[in-house]
Amino acid sequence: MDIFLTGGAGYIGSHTCVELLNAGYNVTVYDNLSNSSQESLKRVEKITSKKIRFIRGDIKDEQKLISSLSGMDAVIHFAGLKAVGESVLKPLEYYDNNTAGTITLLKAMQKKEVKKIVFSSSATVYGEPLFLPLTEEHPLRVTNPYGQTKLMIEEILRDLYKSDDSWAISILRYFNPVGAHKSGIIGEDPQGVPNNLMPFISQVAVGKRDELNVFGDDYDTPDGTGVRDYIHVVDLAKAHVKALQILDKPKCEAINIGTGNGYSVLEMVKAFERASGKKIAYKIMPRRDGDIATCYAKAQKAKEMLGWTAQKGIEEMCEDTWRWQINNPDGYKSTNA
Ligand code: NAD
Ligand code: UFG
Repeated sequence: MDIFLTGGAGYIGSHTCVELLNAGYNVTVYDNLSNSSQESLKRVEKITSKKIRFIRGDIKDEQKLISSLSGMDAVIHFAGLKAVGESVLKPLEYYDNNTAGTITLLKAMQKKEVKKIVFSSSATVYGEPLFLPLTEEHPLRVTNPYGQTKLMIEEILRDLYKSDDSWAISILRYFNPVGAHKSGIIGEDPQGVPNNLMPFISQVAVGKRDELNVFGDDYDTPDGTGVRDYIHVVDLAKAHVKALQILDKPKCEAINIGTGNGYSVLEMVKAFERASGKKIAYKIMPRRDGDIATCYAKAQKAKEMLGWTAQKGIEEMCEDTWRWQINNPDGYKSTNA
């Protein structure tokens, strides 16, 4: 089967390429490289000893999509901008790239009769939890333009399926992806100051940053810091392979991809100290705007529908992040892979 990965050169996409190639799929990556480099794909080829077809292209370019989609059986749609804070400052860019870009992609798919898609959604669509763990039935309410683009795309996909029930659509709501491939040669490569916890902690451990700012210690959680459901990126990548396999029949399903367990910021700091043998200096800062206290998944639907459950715990998440960080202190700009 031939799989078309928009945004496949990025963090989650590159790890998914490994799992798809290992499972025997042919992989075409379509990416404008706005937040990635082709180096990630070269390294995927090294890990798997298999070739990737790469097309440099934008999901807003319908003609290029139409020509590139020839011969494809299904799409995994990762392409998008993902920084919550930036989306508040540049909403038009986010709506244009993520929402308008996805509409263009779906139109091209429709024209080419490629009607199978796995979409990267996010637990951010649940907003402030009304109950925990978060089930897929939890009301959807978002608090920032990034989240709004995810929710809008979900609604567009549901409407598309209502209008034409020959589509097969898996909407995966990721919780907090972290970690890296065991080889230590692919991983998360944030540009500039990392927004997310794990890459920030690992940059403190490797000496690139002095200390971690812990955003709030007065939440209603066991130690006062925010609690999240961290999911190893390799587990997440494997969920995509499973999600493709259920697209043999028409459907439109949203599925949580998390572990079902929550860990606090300070628990993650301690786990990373154990994995790296380094002390992580931190200071307590005020809460970050828009953050919630606690977020974790009910992961039952993924088990039932996909036959998938997360296998890797926080120790492995931290060890693998550390291996990637120490081998590649400057991400893909490092040359020693
Ligand atoms: P990433 O930035 O590493 O990968 C996204 C890729 O999309 C990049 O390679 C980028 O160059 C490409 N891209 C962006 N706009 C494009 C366009 N217009 N045309 C073609 N390519 C384009 O991000 P990631 O962490 O791998 O995330 C992948 C997807 O998962 C995104 O849609 C993101 O919103 C979603 N997601 C990520 C997280 C997370 O914490 N990493 C959580 C939930 C959901
Ligand atoms: N945190 C810190 N210091 C930092 C960064 C984060 O204390 O420097 C804390 C946050 O306050 C939060 C926790 O660490 O309590 C996790 O924060 P992240 O920024 O790593 O992740 P979020 O849960 O805020 O958001 C992430 C993605 C979103 C996605 C969401 C749900 O960034 O895009 O998970 O999938 F929508």
